[in-house]
Amino acid sequence: MSKSHKGLGRLDGKVAIITGAASGIGDSTARIFATEGASVVIGDIQTALGEAVAQDIREAGHQADFVELDVSSDAMVRNIVRHTVERFGRIDILINNAGMENSKPDIDTSEEEWDRVLDVNAKGTFLCTKHAVPHMIAGGGGAIVNISSVYGIVGSPGFAAYHASKGAIRTYTKAAAVAHAPHNIRVNSIHPGLIETPQMRTMLNNQPDPAEAEARFTAYAPVKRFAGPEAIAYGCLYLSSDEALHVTGAELVIDGGMVAW
Ligand SMILES: NC(=O)c1ccc[n+]([C@@H]2O[C@H](COP(=O)([O-])OP(=O)(O)OC[C@H]3O[C@@H](n4cnc5c(N)ncnc54)[C@H](O)[C@@H]3O)[C@@H](O)[C@H]2O)c1
Repeated sequence: MSKSHKGLGRLDGKVAIITGAASGIGDSTARIFATEGASVVIGDIQTALGEAVAQDIREAGHQADFVELDVSSDAMVRNIVRHTVERFGRIDILINNAGMENSKPDIDTSEEEWDRVLDVNAKGTFLCTKHAVPHMIAGGGGAIVNISSVYGIVGSPGFAAYHASKGAIRTYTKAAAVAHAPHNIRVNSIHPGLIETPQMRTMLNNQPDPAEAEARFTAYAPVKRFAGPEAIAYGCLYLSSDEALHVTGAELVIDGGMVAW
């Protein structure tokens, strides 16, 4: 469980699906949401890690289930949505966090690599939204948070498919916000900068000189440091809570100032 977070009941009685919650930002979000009173359903392709996160949350006295999920599969997305409604009766919150990175420039990216990154990051966000929204409408409303990236706002020499997928999430968020506002469903995006997670560590370790790459990436942010995953989890908490009732179609940049200069 989150070692330092003390819940204030900000999500009392709410039911949340969090994708990619076996690790990193999703893991932290699931733990903080449970502490704040939500019942959480964790979906991920990593079954052992996902089960362990859910077990940890249950042992701390909260409600959590793990469901195996590949967000690019329509059938598996339908399955986690069905599971959540059967088990907890409703869906109030969806955190579209599952994602993969690819640091290659466009000329080195294969068609298969491009398709997979777009399938997981962009199509996965669409599929989860599409199947969760009818249940939010039935329940009187909801909140969706899509994890994009600062790389959904600005470009860089590499990461071609990743930029494209995160940019798609950014504008799809606004389309969904406009479409579902009449049903009291809010849809917002978060744009993390440098966050210390397994995905970030793997990306750095795959660079020709990991130490040089870490120093170069750190220098991109005015604060000159990485943040922990809870920096993004707290953004998800705000946007999912009733404190953000008038916030929809917005971009919350949490990046230590990366895109400010
Ligand atoms: N770490 C950063 O600095 C950073 C920066 C910007 C954006 N992000 C985004 O934040 C999100 C979370 O990343 P993280 O840094 O916590 O990485 P992470 O690797 O720790 O967590 C990502 C999780 O998503 C899961 N996942 C991957 N593909 C999946 C699929 N097809 N279906 C279901 N689950 C899948 C992984 O198994 C993993 O548990 C991602 O969307 C990532 O692009 C991260």
